[in-house]
Amino acid sequence: MKDNIEQVLLDKETIQKRVQELGQDIDLYFEGKEIIIITLLDGAIIFTADLIRNMNIPLRLDCLRVSSYGNSTNPETAPRILSSLKTEVTGKHVLIVDDILDTGNTLQSVTQEVLSENPASVHTCVFLDKPDRRENGFSANWSGFSIPNEFVVGYGLDYAGKFRQLPYVGTLKPSVYK
Ligand code: PRP
Repeated sequence: MKDNIEQVLLDKETIQKRVQELGQDIDLYFEGKEIIIITLLDGAIIFTADLIRNMNIPLRLDCLRVSSYGNSTNPETAPRILSSLKTEVTGKHVLIVDDILDTGNTLQSVTQEVLSENPASVHTCVFLDKPDRRENGFSANWSGFSIPNEFVVGYGLDYAGKFRQLPYVGTLKPSVYK
């Protein structure tokens, strides 16, 4: 795995420190409330697992699978939610967690879908944000790191399904994808 990495952009210690801060910030924001965390499969599972272990408020965890051809504003290929929630979100505080905010189409779709169930509130938290790629002005309430428009893997992010298990975030050597 390591042999395929060109450059480490965010090392394990930097990530763990920031995820701890995010957990504390979110805890403070929702103090006295109970929340439902919706994590978007597959990429967000690593970040979500670390994030919730840095949180103290009562929470329940649910997962959603969203179509992977989601990076499009075309209505025919726009992100589609492929699974349903097991938790009733009406009247509840919801936090949607994803690994990366890219065009913004995925989180915008999921947020709209959750809002249609009349929750008490909907907030979003992403591990990485690529603001240069945004197509719709969507912004997350909490973001771990803002990064340039470079293809990165690790800490949940994949290339062809691999590299999600790396505890750091890095770029791939061109030989991997050429
Ligand atoms: C990735 C990522 C986000 C989405 C962000 O999902 O996990 O959910 O793309 O892109 P957007 O802001 O342009 O919509 P992907 O479909 O690659 O699935 P994965 O989580 O299984 O890797």
